[in-house]
Amino acid sequence: LKQSTGRTAGRLTIIGTGPGDPELLTLKALKAVEQAQAIVAPTGRPNGASSALEIIAQAADISGKQVVEVHFSMQKVRLSGSRHRSVEESWSKAADTVLEFTGQGMNVVFPTIGDPAFYSTAYYLLSTVQERQPGLVTEVIPGISSVGSCSSALKAPLALGDDMLCIIPATFGDDRIRQAIETFDSIALMKVHRCLPRVIRILEEYSLLENAVLVEKCALDGERIFQDIRKAAHEDLHYFSTVIVRKQRMGTAGRFIVPGTGDRNGRNVDER
Ligand SMILES: C[S@@+](CC[C@H](N)C(=O)[O-])C[C@H]1O[C@@H](n2cnc3c(N)ncnc32)[C@H](O)[C@@H]1O
Repeated sequence: LKQSTGRTAGRLTIIGTGPGDPELLTLKALKAVEQAQAIVAPTGRPNGASSALEIIAQAADISGKQVVEVHFSMQKVRLSGSRHRSVEESWSKAADTVLEFTGQGMNVVFPTIGDPAFYSTAYYLLSTVQERQPGLVTEVIPGISSVGSCSSALKAPLALGDDMLCIIPATFGDDRIRQAIETFDSIALMKVHRCLPRVIRILEEYSLLENAVLVEKCALDGERIFQDIRKAAHEDLHYFSTVIVRKQRMGTAGRFIVPGTGDRNGRNVDER
């Protein structure tokens, strides 16, 4: 794509960083970072650090690259309906930043936690950029999702056989969470850190508390697994906390067991 300046425009590559362990970054994502001249990274707080940036900085040398952290509004986004002004403003600001770099011929990487496929700001950015500059070369490189990583930490599947799986934020209203529990065999609840007591109450209604496990900071230093999620309700949980509920509890020998796979060393947090 030639700019009006005659310069060849750069490209935008969105990469999934995986859940946190830099070894869980894909080779393709790593290559994209190495070949980029600029990184535009999302932060959840106005002056907070970008977790996605921290992950890639552990895997690649990013000194010498232009790095801009852009705050993305954490207001809820409803796909049909009006949005908070701050939401559109943050997409717009991120798109401006990306296009400024690509306009100078730079390749830009936008890292996003886990896999961009799930509840990522990256796709809002992508569509804003595409609207403004339809011809821009773009690419999306998938990552290892936190739900897949939680499954490995628990050494338990998210779904097997004829299981139906659902992945939703726990910030949804009670009715949608109940609907998910009634419809699906396995439910991953993201963004659970501030609404765990409510989730616990709902799971109790269905006698599913025993089937729920909470993984905090999966694949990061300080990873914790709560086999009894009621104990996690008294903790100041990190934003990186996910609850997995599976109606069928499967053991390694194919038998259904009580979830007690423990942490990576085979211990439950509750036992430490
Ligand atoms: C906006 S969603 C993004 C999900 C991400 N795109 C993915 O594929 O995992 C953020 C939520 O992902 C989950 N999450 C992300 N990283 C995590 C980690 N390392 N451990 C546990 N949960 C994590 C948490 O539930 C968090 O609130």
